[in-house]
Amino acid sequence: MRKYVLGAVVLILLIATVAFAFRPARVVPQPIAYPHKIHVVDNQMECLSCHVNADRSIAATIPSVTECMVCHENVKTDSPEIKKLAAYAQKNEEPPWVRVYGFPEEAAVYFSHKRHVKAGVDCSTCHGDMKNMMTPMKENIRWTMGKCIDCHREKKVSDDCLTCHK
Ligand code: HEC
Ligand code: HEC
Ligand code: HEC
Ligand code: HEC
Ligand code: HEC
Repeated sequence: MRKYVLGAVVLILLIATVAFAFRPARVVPQPIAYPHKIHVVDNQMECLSCHVNADRSIAATIPSVTECMVCHENVKTDSPEIKKLAAYAQKNEEPPWVRVYGFPEEAAVYFSHKRHVKAGVDCSTCHGDMKNMMTPMKENIRWTMGKCIDCHREKKVSDDCLTCHK
């Protein structure tokens, strides 16, 4: 009898471990269901045309609603999502986009987009297949310290604690 109980416990732990390893990417609902694919693939927009600071600053940054309205003043104005967008623009407010990637404050991580983009690391290495991302928004890759350090060692970049922690 005890053998079966033990067997059942081991099986449950095994299932839980496998389920954790293959858990779906964290899904992040956004105030407006913004589809990357329609812009990047269907309309051939570059990542840097919206995330304009990714090659020149620490933060890649999200474009302002004014930037979106350059097109959406006229494009697809009958869509409920574009109506929401236009309402923010009217109020002179930014949509409260929810951050997808980031680190806990207490980890005091220093990360710079510019350093990586200038060194030729592709957006997709760190953010997965954003080109084809529809909604809802997903965190394709969960960034842990180990993953950062793996690449630094491979590329012979410093893995000193103070490189990434301030
Ligand atoms: C038309 C503008 C536009 C283009 C082009 C664009 N993005 Fe975005 N991106 C956004 C907006 C708006 C958000 C915030 C909404 C969201 O997270 O869905 C965002 C969010 C993101 C995020 C999540 C940021 C976070 O942590 O919250 C990543 C990563 C990203 N984009 C990467 C890319 C990459 C890579 C490309 C090129 C393949 C790209 N984007 C092209 C507008 C754009
Ligand atoms: C070496 C890995 C790496 C590369 C390459 C990279 N990112 Fe990121 N990205 C991150 C990490 C890590 C964060 C979270 C950073 C933080 O919170 O300090 C992030 C956050 C973001 C954000 C939201 C916060 C912000 O910076 O405004 C956007 C948007 C984004 N990335 C877009 C891009 C785009 C577009 C590219 C390519 C041009 C790119 N990233 C290349 C790792 C990377
Ligand atoms: C260069 C022009 C351009 C810019 C800039 C632009 N878009 Fe778009 N967007 C389009 C086009 C074109 C479509 C597809 C319209 C269609 O399906 O007929 C689209 C579709 C969309 C849709 C899907 C609407 C639906 O109901 O199908 C959303 C949401 C959206 N855009 C949000 C945004 C946001 C948010 C921004 C700013 C971060 C932005 N767009 C910037 C051209 C643009
Ligand atoms: C795919 C490879 C790759 C990944 C993943 C990566 N890095 Fe880097 N990182 C580099 C390269 C290459 C450089 C050197 C760039 C240069 O020479 O300017 C660098 C440089 C840096 C620097 C500046 C180092 C200095 O000496 O000033 C910091 C800080 C940094 N990375 C932090 C991070 C963090 C934090 C992560 C994880 C979120 C990360 N990196 C993930 C390749 C990577
Ligand atoms: C290449 C970049 C990189 C290097 C080098 C690095 N770290 Fe980290 N570290 C990170 C990132 C990114 C996180 C956040 C991971 C997450 O959010 O899961 C982190 C998280 C941590 C945390 C957890 C903080 C918390 O409580 O959330 C500690 C502690 C830590 N690092 C210590 C160190 C020490 C000690 C060293 C040197 C031996 C070191 N790190 C070197 C990138 C780095």
